Amino acid sequence: MNDTPNFSARHTGRLLGLGVGPGDPELITLKALRLLQEAPVVAYPVAKGRASNALGIVEGYLRPEQVRLPLVYPVTTEKLPPPFCYETALRDFYDDSCVAVARHLDAGRDVAAICEGDPLFYGSYMYLHDRLAGRYETIVVPGVCSVVACAAAASTPLMYRNQTLTVLSGVLPAEDLARHLARTEAAAIMKLGGNFPKVCGVLRELGMTGRAIYVERGTMARQRVLPLAEVDPASVPYFAMILVPGTRWVGEAA
Ligand SMILES: C[S@@+](CC[C@H](N)C(=O)[O-])C[C@H]1O[C@@H](n2cnc3c(N)ncnc32)[C@H](O)[C@@H]1O
Repeated sequence: MNDTPNFSARHTGRLLGLGVGPGDPELITLKALRLLQEAPVVAYPVAKGRASNALGIVEGYLRPEQVRLPLVYPVTTEKLPPPFCYETALRDFYDDSCVAVARHLDAGRDVAAICEGDPLFYGSYMYLHDRLAGRYETIVVPGVCSVVACAAAASTPLMYRNQTLTVLSGVLPAEDLARHLARTEAAAIMKLGGNFPKVCGVLRELGMTGRAIYVERGTMARQRVLPLAEVDPASVPYFAMILVPGTRWVGEAA
């Protein structure tokens, strides 16, 4: 793919939305790595008071002189006590992040906005993209998505032949999860954390627990893969998902 600008004199920097993969630093594409290492500024999402997952994946590839631009999430949970509103806090956060990124772009510096997994698949990068891609030259480089990385970690095929895979957020209400799961042949349920007991309850009611595999921190140093029934709900972090693989296809009966 050609990523050379199609005009001769570029006055503003380029927005580079780079997928850095699910955790293992070797699961980054050659293209994302090249653009990352060439960029003078590296913007990364980080929750207040925590280490950045995305930065942790690529830190070993960066040079000291590359400017680090942390984009700090003000909140880490969707359930906030009134009068706080998660949606408003998040919208303001992305608006402010864009101002910080645009300052570098306007000064002619490329900004590598790194994103765990794939940038356009539930990625934090999408909210910068929606606000900035129309104003600045933009390149998006896909990353290895956590769903396929977790299937590999669990060494399980996800869907065979014409089966349908449904990707769900564990944040959804139980009724919505049940409705989607009842109609699908394979599923990946993301964003677990405190949503884990609710998701497990739905899978139990639908008789899907026996097929479900739990993958925590897939491809990262502390990866755990367990049958769902063996998971202690108190130990489930945000970086975990449940896979319900499609029924194995063994070929037509003779
Ligand atoms: C905001 S989404 C980010 C998805 C990411 N952009 C991708 O392409 O995979 C965060 C959710 O992805 C899942 N996730 C991301 N990386 C993971 C990993 N290494 N192991 C297990 N789940 C992961 C978790 O369910 C987590 O709650």
